[in-house]
Amino acid sequence: MVSRVIPVEPFDLVLFGASGDLARRKILPALFHRFQIGQFSTECRIIGSSRSDLTAEEFRTQTADAIREFGQDVKTTPEEIAAFTALVDYVAVDARGGSGWDLIHAKLRDDCVRAFYLSVGPSLFPDIARRLSETGIATPDSRIVLEKPFGHDLASAQALNTALREYFEEQQIYRIDHYLGKETVQNLMALRFANSLFEPLWNSSHIDHVQITVAESIGIEGREEYYDRSGAMRDMVQNHLMQLLCLTAMEPPAQFTPNAVRDEKVKVIEALRPVDQSCIARGQYRGRNGGKNDSYRDHAGNPASRTESYIALKVEVANWRWAGTPFYLRTGKCLRERVSEIAVYFRDPPHNIFEGSGTVHGNVLVIRLQPDEGITLKTTIKDPGPGGMRLTGANLDMTFADELPESGRPQDAYERLIMDVIRGNQTLFMRGDEVEAAWAWADPIIAGWEDTGDAPQPYDSGSAGPDDSLLLIHRDGRRWRSIGA
Ligand code: BG6
Repeated sequence: MVSRVIPVEPFDLVLFGASGDLARRKILPALFHRFQIGQFSTECRIIGSSRSDLTAEEFRTQTADAIREFGQDVKTTPEEIAAFTALVDYVAVDARGGSGWDLIHAKLRDDCVRAFYLSVGPSLFPDIARRLSETGIATPDSRIVLEKPFGHDLASAQALNTALREYFEEQQIYRIDHYLGKETVQNLMALRFANSLFEPLWNSSHIDHVQITVAESIGIEGREEYYDRSGAMRDMVQNHLMQLLCLTAMEPPAQFTPNAVRDEKVKVIEALRPVDQSCIARGQYRGRNGGKNDSYRDHAGNPASRTESYIALKVEVANWRWAGTPFYLRTGKCLRERVSEIAVYFRDPPHNIFEGSGTVHGNVLVIRLQPDEGITLKTTIKDPGPGGMRLTGANLDMTFADELPESGRPQDAYERLIMDVIRGNQTLFMRGDEVEAAWAWADPIIAGWEDTGDAPQPYDSGSAGPDDSLLLIHRDGRRWRSIGA
């Protein structure tokens, strides 16, 4: 694998929110893994920063602990961790005040890439951007990376964009949606645009409908404060599921360049029809088998919460390619299994010459994001052996780990995204207008239930979601793919 690694230029990366959860779980281990495989050298620096009054040595110890705890079972040696933490430094900064900024400035070098990663709440984005600019720490080539959530609605996203653009150009701004860094999400683009097989069929004449599922088995424990103000629509649909929808539905861009790809995604979002409340099912988990303990409301510490932990929607892309092909989206917490996939249901053959020989199973192309990244194509074949012409379903199945074992361990999305920041490649990051378009679509949908005080339907933890979500698709004569057994 080392031979495939393309080293990046030396960089100084300042990580704000360095003692936070995301930094420990994802960002620092991701950086370590790319260092371990030789993608960047000992000339690079990672400067952690947060309000905590830590010494550099204490932060190095925290970094080493994070790598050991969240390093995805990657084999490491104490020497590798020590070599990595030797690149790590720390400066305590008051994001809203004046202290610490000169110390950061003094540590930055002029002859390498400068990136600022804001792993902090969005309310701090404008203050940090302003300080970076006013103190001269940010140069015209510097990059600023922003974690989600990017706003709470259209107005707040616009306000953030306006504030950031006072200090940074759009080409310097990297808005993260970590789903775009997932291997299979990029494979979706390769599948569609590097093969001639699918594209002629990729339209409403041949595709009956598409199902996009992001099911999680975990609940919201530990994130209740943020989640209870957001819900599944803001937390997952406006960003992650929207990105999956865009990559599935977009026109082929002329080139694989950041703006060409993002232009096409924006067109998809702008073509989305407003969603009627009758095309939405919202749910909230309760305990297993209807139990009262371990419910969403317990976890949220809010016995009257009306926030959805599950949502399913029927979405229509009103353009020439997709008119008549609905996209069903669903996502939820505390579901039976962790499954993320895009399932493309092709139409049945126009005429069945095998009547009486069994059912023609419609072709379904399933792109599995997690677990077991891979692609399956459901086909109909003759049941092998004697007994005449009997039809049966069979899968053409490709699990990437089996098919391409040399590709090594699964890469965490953050690894790729951080390296793309250093390379200056924005293809896998959301542009400002894209985020705003997604909020402009989501806002009226959310207002639909916030205005009426509509409560989500309870569903059992460990189930496949609320009954209303079944009705949503059944009444169109279709069924969800099952979530787990
Ligand atoms: C985050 C959401 O963006 O994505 C979480 O805030 C969610 O609620 C997570 O659990 C899912 O990411 P993944 O990579 O585990 O599918």
